[in-house]
Amino acid sequence: MLQPGEYIKDIFQMPVGTSVTARGWVKTKRDSKGISFIQLNDGSVFTDLQVVIDADVVPEETMQLVTTGSCISVEGDLVESPAKGQAVELKGKSVEVHGSADPATYPLQKKGASMEFLREIAHLRPRSNTFGAVFRLRHAASYAIHKFFQERGFIWVHTPVITASDAEGAGAMFGVTTLDLMNLPRTEDRGIDWTKDFFGKQAYLTVSGQLEGETFAEALSNIYTFGPTFRAENSNTPRHLAEFWMVEPEMAFCDLDDDRHLAEDFLKYIIAYVVDTRMDDLEFFNNRIDNTVLETLEHVANSDFEHITYTETIEILEKANRGWEFPVKWGVDLQSEHERYITEEVFKKPVVVTDYPKEIKAFYMRMNDDGKTVRAMDVLLPRIGEIIGGSQREERHDVLVEKIESMGLPLEAYWWYLELRKYGSVPHAGFGLGLERMIMYLTGMKNIRDVIPFPRTPGNAEF
Ligand code: 4AD
Ligand code: MG
Repeated sequence: MLQPGEYIKDIFQMPVGTSVTARGWVKTKRDSKGISFIQLNDGSVFTDLQVVIDADVVPEETMQLVTTGSCISVEGDLVESPAKGQAVELKGKSVEVHGSADPATYPLQKKGASMEFLREIAHLRPRSNTFGAVFRLRHAASYAIHKFFQERGFIWVHTPVITASDAEGAGAMFGVTTLDLMNLPRTEDRGIDWTKDFFGKQAYLTVSGQLEGETFAEALSNIYTFGPTFRAENSNTPRHLAEFWMVEPEMAFCDLDDDRHLAEDFLKYIIAYVVDTRMDDLEFFNNRIDNTVLETLEHVANSDFEHITYTETIEILEKANRGWEFPVKWGVDLQSEHERYITEEVFKKPVVVTDYPKEIKAFYMRMNDDGKTVRAMDVLLPRIGEIIGGSQREERHDVLVEKIESMGLPLEAYWWYLELRKYGSVPHAGFGLGLERMIMYLTGMKNIRDVIPFPRTPGNAEF
């Protein structure tokens, strides 16, 4: 096991003359005039360690096994590097080959493989420059998320993955069952007898930890959840996954304005943290994936988010009269083309849209006095569109009962959620950030399938 101080990122910090052992996977090997040049990487840092080995130093049989994709340890001394971008390189004295990789079949040979091809070899793609950088950034952003909330006294709550309640009331859930699908137990009216199933009722993979999160906010005040969530919507787009990670803070004593400001501080904090700690990876994205990445992050970190209502948004869109693919009028949901127009062309910065029509938002959002809109917010970013969805929650028992019934949802299923409004209810609010959308934003990666280790999408659950 690599100990702190033994990673390649640590080796880069050591002075010339230090004796070290470097371990990792070979990116490339090149032989020139009796010298082998090996690019070695252990994933700890973007830059490969250059290893130089003179022909007579290591036996030829060993060197033959050192090919792209093989795993090796090299022992030697650090010397000054004539190569650009690194102060030191390793002059190897001995090489141990842990695992070879047959050049005839190793799939990750060439640079510049397409993203689609790399998806087919998701078990090997973390070894590529791009995916090493993506997953270091994903890690750093996740750490920043915990750091942000914990510095503010939020308690991390682990909400369940398996649940019987539909948190969004939208029905896009994966069922969880142990029933024999070829021989289902039946009720008298030929329905399925779910009382015979594992949980004694119908169960699902959660679409959101929010409802359970609310129970904890009404006890521990400020909480957040951070874990995988699941959506069974058949959306084959570059922005949707069937399994994605969501961060959901929930705050008691909180209204929509506080919620909105927390979301803004939160996004800025994550950006500042990755800029501080992972500039090497960000520079790669800026040079190779999207040359606006650094500029955009800088811009967001330094601008106040715009705030407009849904009604104002519709007015702007109607006036723009762009020949929208999805026509706009008050009451329709905003589509990606509308969100991008608002953020990229009108305001040229992040925009928080609030107070949506009640019909297009979830049952739990707090009703405004106009009786038509709810205290919802979506945070929209240039390039990405919606990155955060949130709201102030309906804390009034009678209003919530009426809302659940009017939306045709089963009141019994929400009995415990309703009890929170009977016992010690308080104005509260929260939001959900899709981690993958954030990583897309930070990296400039164009497809959400390329910012999660093993993407699950309609028709695809390989690995
Ligand atoms: O807007 P959503 O559906 O909100 C909720 O689930 C609330 N319960 C959150 C809350 O208030 N606690 O989802 C929140 C965010 C979206 O803005 C988006 O970033 C991401 O989750 N998201 C997805 N990301 C990838 N694939 C999908 N299918 C996603 N659906 C939502
Ligand atoms: Mg949403």
